[in-house]
Amino acid sequence: MRLKGKVAVVTGAAQGIGAGIALRLAQEGAAVVIADIDEGKAARSATEIAGYGAGAAIPVVCDVSNAEQVDALFRQALENFGRVDILVNNAALVHHPGSNVHFLEVTDETWQRALAINLTGLFYCSQRAARIMVRQTAAGMGTGGAIINIGSGGGSRAHRQLMVYDTTKGGLEAATRSMALDLAPWKIRVNTLVPGNTEVEHSRGGAIGPEFAEATIPLGYPATPADIGAAAAFLASDDAAYITGQRLIVDGGMDAQLRSPGVDTKIDPAIADRI
Ligand SMILES: NC(=O)c1ccc[n+]([C@@H]2O[C@H](COP(=O)([O-])OP(=O)(O)OC[C@H]3O[C@@H](n4cnc5c(N)ncnc54)[C@H](O)[C@@H]3O)[C@@H](O)[C@H]2O)c1
Repeated sequence: MRLKGKVAVVTGAAQGIGAGIALRLAQEGAAVVIADIDEGKAARSATEIAGYGAGAAIPVVCDVSNAEQVDALFRQALENFGRVDILVNNAALVHHPGSNVHFLEVTDETWQRALAINLTGLFYCSQRAARIMVRQTAAGMGTGGAIINIGSGGGSRAHRQLMVYDTTKGGLEAATRSMALDLAPWKIRVNTLVPGNTEVEHSRGGAIGPEFAEATIPLGYPATPADIGAAAAFLASDDAAYITGQRLIVDGGMDAQLRSPGVDTKIDPAIADRI
């Protein structure tokens, strides 16, 4: 219950990683606002979370790339819960057929849409949340806050045929560092959380598929939304009180390796008997 009394807004929390994060924050005691464009799934996710009885959860329909809708999102968060302590920028244009194409065939529409959701949406939500957090400090309602931006390994190393997505995730990491510095005087911490290949409804086994997990991920299996939720709860909590402007990678070891396990030097199965 590290987040008792805190209020969290999680974007894109109707399903997938966002739903896993929202659930864990609620289990740690936070009241959670489930912000998503998918009304039905957002309502389902909120009901599921409220069922845990730890914290309250409400769904709010919101397209993060629309400034008026983001204003309304934070108005509703304040009307329902009176404050905002945690923002998780998770919503993104992901698993989208138009974005998984060769650079030579990227359309203007895909480029503009990805930037609008993945970066403009992050700007809208972060600035509104940070302004509320700063006003809370001025009003003696407690100091600080936590903003967690959900990045990707593509923010620092490239996927093939995912140029637009990777570009937005690189921008997200720069935004994290910059916001962390500007907001540090108010003890508002801003960090990037990088999930590895994570199993969600859209992609069983994560983007590479379960059949390739063992060959590419050192731990041998994809992450679950609960794995990412656990790391988000840590970054949101006072356990991470001195961590800001950083990138936490939760990827089963993928980022640490040069070659995939499938093509690298094999472990001798007899090693355990020799030592
Ligand atoms: N699944 C993975 O393997 C993986 C790996 C690395 C990073 N990520 C990142 O994790 C985050 C979540 O990914 P996921 O796999 O759970 O995706 P997902 O598609 O399952 O969930 C994304 C959610 O965002 C919502 N959404 C989309 N556009 C929106 C908008 N404009 N406004 C509000 N909500 C919107 C969708 O309705 C959906 O509920 C993304 O930022 C993604 O880049 C995922």
